[in-house]
Amino acid sequence: MIGRHNFQLLLNRHHGTPGVVVLPDNGFRRAKEEITSWPGYAPTPMVPLPDAAEAARVASVHWKDESGRFGLGSFKALGGAYAVLRVLAVELARRGDAASATSADLADGKYKEATRGITVTCATDGNHGRSVAWGAQRFGCRCVIFVHPGVSKGRRDAVAAYGAEVREAPGTYDDSVRAAKREAEKQGWFVVSDTSYPGYTEPPRDVMQGYRLMAEEAAEALPAPPTHVFVPGGVGGLAAAVSAQMRARYGKDAPRLVVAEPDRAACLMASAEAGQLTAVDGPLDTVMAGLACGEPSLLAWQELERAAFGFVSIPDEAAVACMRALHRRQPRIVAGESAVAGLAALLLAGRDGFGRAALGLGEDSRVLLFGTEGATDPELYARLVAG
Ligand SMILES: Cc1ncc(COP(=O)(O)O)c(C=O)c1O
Repeated sequence: MIGRHNFQLLLNRHHGTPGVVVLPDNGFRRAKEEITSWPGYAPTPMVPLPDAAEAARVASVHWKDESGRFGLGSFKALGGAYAVLRVLAVELARRGDAASATSADLADGKYKEATRGITVTCATDGNHGRSVAWGAQRFGCRCVIFVHPGVSKGRRDAVAAYGAEVREAPGTYDDSVRAAKREAEKQGWFVVSDTSYPGYTEPPRDVMQGYRLMAEEAAEALPAPPTHVFVPGGVGGLAAAVSAQMRARYGKDAPRLVVAEPDRAACLMASAEAGQLTAVDGPLDTVMAGLACGEPSLLAWQELERAAFGFVSIPDEAAVACMRALHRRQPRIVAGESAVAGLAALLLAGRDGFGRAALGLGEDSRVLLFGTEGATDPELYARLVAG
């Protein structure tokens, strides 16, 4: 499917050691009950990829296609909007405006006098901000989203389309996270971030509980339990959510979780190598915009440091080659730049003797991939697949 490219593989020497519970199951049950009640909810499709299975010499490959999630183009629709809802419900209760406001109350404008005075904010490289803006619009509060200069116009416009104000902050994604935090402290706004840091954990925990729904849908739809799951890694929230859900469902038979990152922004691999949460420097200049993160999420790392089996870093060229291969196959799969990291990691590691052995990939392996976004920046997508 794709040619040869360099990659790096690191096995997690702490895999399987006991640790803290980051995502309690009751939080997931609440997220699931809420999100599945939203208008337009439907499980996203599960697509078998026999061509990828043949190329990687494994028994099967399945692709969970998130391109249609709630019309937002990525799995992130599950996280940010749900966390906005939770922030608003808690704040309305704190102010004495509503003891337990439901999403239907908020969407119907029952508390609009109170909610329109509340502002939520976050940093984004596109998809999380779109989800937060969508949630803010639906539930009736104000929204300001911070982007770094590398976020494309297409992605900014997609956030603004949900009524959010988009502000540019200099530097990288991690700098825009700090800018959102600073402004929130100054203005009394609520940060609804997908990444957590010491002293700030609750909205990101809700975000991750929302993501778990995607992993549960996948497990429900698969013909047999997977032996391996390859997940794209940005700050690690998605990978940690998938990990928690796989462990909750399969216990000691949980599949091996492999985190796939861009080689220019491999902060989770760097953390595994150092044995502690570690940031990577540099411009984080990768085409995989959603994965261009230099600092892992604290909560995500607490799950991954013992539950991830391995980490693979891949070059941009391999991601673009995968996008093209999926675009040209019949029937076509539209996969954005960040969606294909897991497929690229599987194809590169699976065709390499050392990679196969290290990850325990064999002719009987059943691999699950999360195609986390569609063409979330349509112009860029068209340019990359045309090549
Ligand atoms: C399409 C896509 N895939 C994967 C990720 C990675 O998620 P996380 O940052 O939680 O690791 C992102 C993050 O923005 C994304 O937008």
